Amino acid sequence: MTTQYEYWWSVGYRIDHWLRVAALVVLTFTGFYIHWPFLPGGTEGGFAVMGWMRFAHFVSAYILMLGLIVRIYLAFRSTFDADWRDFGLVRNLRNIPDILLYYLFLTDTHKEYRRYNPLQALTYWFWALLIIFMALTGLALYRGTVFGLIQAPDAFEWVNTVLGGRSYTRIWHFLGMWVFLITISIHVYMAASVGLIQRDHTFRSMFTGYKLKVGGKPEKAAE
Ligand code: HEM
Repeated sequence: MTTQYEYWWSVGYRIDHWLRVAALVVLTFTGFYIHWPFLPGGTEGGFAVMGWMRFAHFVSAYILMLGLIVRIYLAFRSTFDADWRDFGLVRNLRNIPDILLYYLFLTDTHKEYRRYNPLQALTYWFWALLIIFMALTGLALYRGTVFGLIQAPDAFEWVNTVLGGRSYTRIWHFLGMWVFLITISIHVYMAASVGLIQRDHTFRSMFTGYKLKVGGKPEKAAE
């Protein structure tokens, strides 16, 4: 069995990944607080805490949106590996049965995929759309100017109209957070379990940049 390291994530991809994780952690915490001000003095007369929470929410919202823009840029322009070709919708949708049968333990192998298998690629599509959804619903709840140019919520009032009113927008924004939390939990579980099963350093690769290439696939050869 030969093993060698493979450089899998450039510094740019890793920084972008962890910045978005940090933004999501802050957004979730502060979002919970805005929904349910649990610290003493958080409601009446407690503007200081709520003010800071909202400020942190908006700052991290910008980081999340900027992170998505950077990720799309990297997909097309990264000198390390522009991975846009992994995200073709039709091909990924067509290959879902292949990877699903494998994940359900109904087959031992799946097709070779370049960087991301179809479920991964479609999850990343889904998150991109979810970020856009959270940004639109968030901006429809916001009162202020965005980049000193766009007046919110006026410019996003149509979102409130489509969703049936501001209170519904709030509920959708809140539900969006839960969709994030559930799908991210699955993502972390998958990354950890793939790393454990294949012993290819998948999990730690997002920190170090390197995966372990296990040569010869000895488990299969032994069957
Ligand atoms: C991406 C851009 C986002 C923007 C512009 C944004 C903006 C906002 C705004 C303006 C509010 C209302 C604040 C207030 O009433 O004072 C809010 C509430 C909230 N946000 Fe965000 N947000 C964004 C993303 C997120 C994300 C990613 C999460 C969670 C993963 C999140 C979770 C929440 C929660 C839980 C609330 C409280 C909703 C409620 O009152 O029930 N937000 N957000």
